[in-house]
Amino acid sequence: MVGCSCQKLPQNFKFGAATAAYQIEGGWKADGKGKSVWDEFVHTHKDAIEDRTNGDVAADSYHLWREDVRIASQLGLDHYRFSISWSRILPSGLPNNVNKAGVKYYSDLIDELLRQGIEPVVTMYHFDLPLTLQSLGGWTNPLIVDWFSDYAKVLYSLFADRVKTWITMNEAVVLCDMIFNTGSLAPGIKEEELAPFLCNKYLLLAHAKAYRIYEREYKNKYHGRISLANNIIWIEPYKHPRDKELAKLGLDFMIGRYSHPIYSKEGGWPPTVEKILLEYSLKQGYNYSRLPSFTEEEKKLLKGSADFYAVNYYTTYVIRPAKKGERGFWFLTGSPELDAMMEKPAYAEPSAGVIMPVYPKGLRQTLSYLKKNYGDIDIMITENGYAGKHQMYDHVRLKFIKDHLTEVYLAINEDKVNVIGYTYWALMDNFEWNSGYSVAFGLYAINHDDPKKIRSPRLSSQYYACVIKTHEINVSDQCINENIDKLHLPHYHSFTNRISASKTVIVVLFLGFMYIYYYR
Ligand code: BGC
Repeated sequence: MVGCSCQKLPQNFKFGAATAAYQIEGGWKADGKGKSVWDEFVHTHKDAIEDRTNGDVAADSYHLWREDVRIASQLGLDHYRFSISWSRILPSGLPNNVNKAGVKYYSDLIDELLRQGIEPVVTMYHFDLPLTLQSLGGWTNPLIVDWFSDYAKVLYSLFADRVKTWITMNEAVVLCDMIFNTGSLAPGIKEEELAPFLCNKYLLLAHAKAYRIYEREYKNKYHGRISLANNIIWIEPYKHPRDKELAKLGLDFMIGRYSHPIYSKEGGWPPTVEKILLEYSLKQGYNYSRLPSFTEEEKKLLKGSADFYAVNYYTTYVIRPAKKGERGFWFLTGSPELDAMMEKPAYAEPSAGVIMPVYPKGLRQTLSYLKKNYGDIDIMITENGYAGKHQMYDHVRLKFIKDHLTEVYLAINEDKVNVIGYTYWALMDNFEWNSGYSVAFGLYAINHDDPKKIRSPRLSSQYYACVIKTHEINVSDQCINENIDKLHLPHYHSFTNRISASKTVIVVLFLGFMYIYYYR
């Protein structure tokens, strides 16, 4: 087709949107729900949240879940990724007491999604550990492997007949590294020496055990697929060629630590990470590595314990050697073990999420890296989103989605990566952890001051709806405008149209000026 800028994603490519329990549900004490670490943290550490808000009500999805399904269906989503609050199902975290009201809530949500033809993609754990389990050491106690797998068993027994895609954990790198290195997220514990690495091991084992239970008891009957979602910050060398080696090691820590044990042929920790941590620990005076090793049996349990790769991609950083006195931490500012610092790249665009500069090309690099290192596995993008201001006419988010989908298109068509789906974060505005409600990620806006919590479609949502309908990334203005006519938003003009419109205005002004000049 002459002049066509067609970039079509494959017909079987799936589009979705995501949320997480604490960020949208509210109902923090409703109907027998137990407390989670976030319920506790927001009330005891009010200053840790930028606008001193909390998720007590959030988007009130505990009561307004039908609205969530309605907007998901309005978009034409293939799947909706949401998370289950562990303490809503098991108030103490342990399986001796199952909260019937919690079960009904998720069961109704799943049924309604299925009725609308939307696949539920269920995350078992998205940062909201039951408080009782935290008081017993949480992710640093080896018993969490059993606590988590008992919880997984309960979920399978309740929902495996209807849920075919499961994500055990959301973002181990945030859960273990960021949480314990900063202490600024729930549970508010800062312990950089051992906690992140104990958490690394137990979290991976908990995932693998939950995977094996499904494989043994449910897979033949229900044919579902399980993975864990890794947050990947793509890392590029800062300036000098010598930073290349550092970037490679950085990726071993960022991606390899959570992927090599599961997706590599050899299994176990990435050898570079194992070596560096042992040497560093010995230098610090330990007589063992702070990164606990796996037994052969544990390695076997982990190897192959995922049916696809789930990746959350938001941003890219550059890495360079630390200067004297500089000390970064995983996963945002650097690494003491690598004596390296990470920075936002000068070539990335800023966003309202200060830690998340926008660099779509990093997504393609990430996808190709995963293929190169772990083979031809299916990859599902389980999160990708833009932190913006509370605007309805969100051109920048629209461009963000388009630019990232373009990189996905290139990864599929040029690099032959098996990307099977894309999930925008988030379906609607939600409680953004330390930022509270000060930034907006949603395809649908929510005015958090309004108790009705009405979901209002942003411009980007209607672009996304057109992409979903056609699988074409460069959708026509007409498609978007037909949609937004119904929503009473001003009409949209794509960049090229805007340029030609502004050219016309300039020419008319010029001619007008010449006319006045010569004939006055
Ligand atoms: C998390 C979400 C969060 C989003 C935007 C992801 O890392 O899974 O919970 O809201 O990033 O910051």
